[in-house]
Amino acid sequence: MKSIRKNRRSFIKKLGLGATAVAVSNTSSFAFTAKNTAKPKDAVKMGFITDIHHGYCKDALQRLNVFLKQASKRDLDFIIQAGDFCHPTEEGKECIDLWNTYKGDTYHVLGNHDMDKGTKEETMAFWGMTNNYYSFDKGDFHFIVLDGNYILKDDTYVDYAHANFYIEQQHRSLVHPDQIDWLKEDLASTDKQCIIISHQAFDEIWDGWSSPSRFAVRKVIDDANNRTDFQKVIACFCGHHHVDDHSIINKVHYFQMNSASYYYVGEGYGSDDSKAMYEDSIFAFLTIDPKGRIVIEGKRSNFVSPTPTDLKHPDASRLSASISNREIEFTAK
Ligand SMILES: [Fe+2]
Repeated sequence: MKSIRKNRRSFIKKLGLGATAVAVSNTSSFAFTAKNTAKPKDAVKMGFITDIHHGYCKDALQRLNVFLKQASKRDLDFIIQAGDFCHPTEEGKECIDLWNTYKGDTYHVLGNHDMDKGTKEETMAFWGMTNNYYSFDKGDFHFIVLDGNYILKDDTYVDYAHANFYIEQQHRSLVHPDQIDWLKEDLASTDKQCIIISHQAFDEIWDGWSSPSRFAVRKVIDDANNRTDFQKVIACFCGHHHVDDHSIINKVHYFQMNSASYYYVGEGYGSDDSKAMYEDSIFAFLTIDPKGRIVIEGKRSNFVSPTPTDLKHPDASRLSASISNREIEFTAK
């Protein structure tokens, strides 16, 4: 199926300026005050939530509400949800309606379960999303949203629709080759440092569910970084895997952002059917400082009892009901 991407306008928020004058003194007998005409570099602040799973998780709406309330109290440049959000159905309406009450810029990433009860076009229309993959600028950074929701059927890339993705892993969670070409061009077209956000992972995850397109995506990222005299892509963020993790591949930081709601443990291991529920709504507030620092203010919670450890789930030691606080450094432009 043809890509759904259309042109989307980028929104550049005016950044508040800090002090514009600095006192400069030298070692001679006089001092003077000079106006600094360079614009101070402000950090970009974002709210990040993923995998609330409305329609599958009983209290998804309340979890979203907690996030939106806290986000509204902060001075954020934007909020983003990274997929597995809600279905394009009557039932899903309360979720998108609540999301749309946020007074500020909002962005969506498509997740696999968002196309369980409809087509990709229907989900996008329901959310008011004009592109399935796109990019936008905020402050000194360029953000890129990718869509890893394609299956390969008879050598053709097909959009996810009506839960058609329950096939072998190597033929799903794919990025369309046209999108890979677009990514190459989009990275070449900006002189800002970039952050990529997707639903499925492009690094290596122990659950074996990383996108099979990760090698192609990482090649584009690494080529872009090698072509410029600064590190063009500094970080990638994803949801989908419901884990709290971080890795570095060729100087690029890959962050696994945990679900707001639960980890899927399967029958016999969950506190709510097959789900190991988190006691609290889990999300993060991020500060990306052009001086070379990413700060993740996460949220710590616990599993509802009985926990995966109580029930001796084989992956219990790797699971967490939290998003860790992290501070990482990157080489600024
Ligand atoms: Fe997912």
